Amino acid sequence: MSDTNKKDEPEIRITKNGPYIVSGNVPLVRLTLVCNSSGDAVEWKEGERYPVQETYALCRCGGSHNKPFCDGTHLNNHFEGTETASRVPYLKRAGWTEGPGIRLGDAPGFCSHARFCVRGKGIWELVEESGNPKARKTAIQMAADCNSGRLVIWDKKTREPLEPAFEKSIGLVEGPIKGIFGPLLVRGGIPVISADGFVYEIRNRVTLCRCGNSGNKPFCDGSHMRG
Ligand code: FES
Repeated sequence: MSDTNKKDEPEIRITKNGPYIVSGNVPLVRLTLVCNSSGDAVEWKEGERYPVQETYALCRCGGSHNKPFCDGTHLNNHFEGTETASRVPYLKRAGWTEGPGIRLGDAPGFCSHARFCVRGKGIWELVEESGNPKARKTAIQMAADCNSGRLVIWDKKTREPLEPAFEKSIGLVEGPIKGIFGPLLVRGGIPVISADGFVYEIRNRVTLCRCGNSGNKPFCDGSHMRG
């Protein structure tokens, strides 16, 4: 796939063993993952918005003393940022769970372990029971809250995905444990471009690793939860 090469359009470029270079005046906002007593995620809480900048560099190695921004620490901490994630599009990777009016796509390779989907019966059973309006509504909300985009629900009648509407923006995920920083939640279809110029599939929501420990770079794989 070719590079995007459009000036002023929001985009995120990955640098080899270095930061994410964000350009195009992309809003940056803090997002806290709120959990219930069982540790399952129940909602997102939006916090501080940073002043908008045309271009900025976000830490990818996890070592910056000026997070979320890069301070050059990757040059000293031997950060190994090789991108190992699959480049196969979502629809070719997803498995399916069928319900009466909706179907659920599930591509575990995107998972960042936010745990919205395992609350109660779990999203898979709710989709199967989605003839019940309450089960349908809850399943749709769970999929919409899945920040990594692992889970996507389609309406069988319209054949359209039921996606939340996002402004193009980046969320700095924090929690559920205080002091643990989660991934960058990239919302609204911002192109993410690899260090070798490949444009990853443009999606409404994906999560990028910012702890430096993911085994699925550039995407988050939940490794930040291990501290
Ligand atoms: S931020 Fe989740 S694995 Fe790095």
